[in-house]
Amino acid sequence: MPDRPAATRPGFLLTIEGGDGAGKSTLIAALAERAGAAGWRPLVVREPGGTPLGEAVRRLLLDAATAPAARAELLLFCAARAQLVAEVILPALDAGMLVLCDRFGDSTVAYQHGGRGLPLADVQAAVAAATGGLTPDLTLVLDLDPGAARARRGGDGDYLEREPAAFHRRVREAFLAAARAEPERVRVVDAAAPAAAVADAAWAVLAPRLPASPVPPVPPVPPGG
Ligand code: TYD
Repeated sequence: MPDRPAATRPGFLLTIEGGDGAGKSTLIAALAERAGAAGWRPLVVREPGGTPLGEAVRRLLLDAATAPAARAELLLFCAARAQLVAEVILPALDAGMLVLCDRFGDSTVAYQHGGRGLPLADVQAAVAAATGGLTPDLTLVLDLDPGAARARRGGDGDYLEREPAAFHRRVREAFLAAARAEPERVRVVDAAAPAAAVADAAWAVLAPRLPASPVPPVPPVPPGG
């Protein structure tokens, strides 16, 4: 049943958040590699997407000139998430995997509440409906000045990336507010540093929070064997 926090399952749900161009994909690849070396089976998923239905919603949101109204946009992101939770994340957590999710509910609060200005209670209710109450074990917010992120990204990007600078400043502030509101779950990582330093800082937060590796260590090969 999806109404238990991730912490009650054998796996571990790590979500990576932050503005566009903060370097989430690079960090996720680095963390997956380190967690794999530590004995975890990593699974990388992205939002919106990660399932056939979610990828269709992603195309609808990002590629087409559909221009969803703010509340339609909220519900589309949440529909993609509901499918991802049911089809991929919960089974993986039950199988003891480390799920690294590129964006999750904090993105919805940051973009649809912080950016679009929808009421926080409505956004939180939609997120809760989509996740069934599943909350990440740990959330890393990659924090970067929106101007620096835009320069790093280059080009115009998707329709959300083309929102004015003030929108992206509100998104950033909403991520930082989430970290202040839930300091145990949501940790901020400075994304202005070089990629290797960002990965080191993120791993330093994640490693002590990961339970002992669920996979027994490989026994040493006997001499001559
Ligand atoms: P993503 O593909 O992760 O963009 P990027 O790779 O640039 O980080 O996400 C697509 C866009 O969707 C991004 O601008 C953030 C936005 N978004 C929301 O507005 N609400 C949400 O709930 C999610 C998951 C993403």
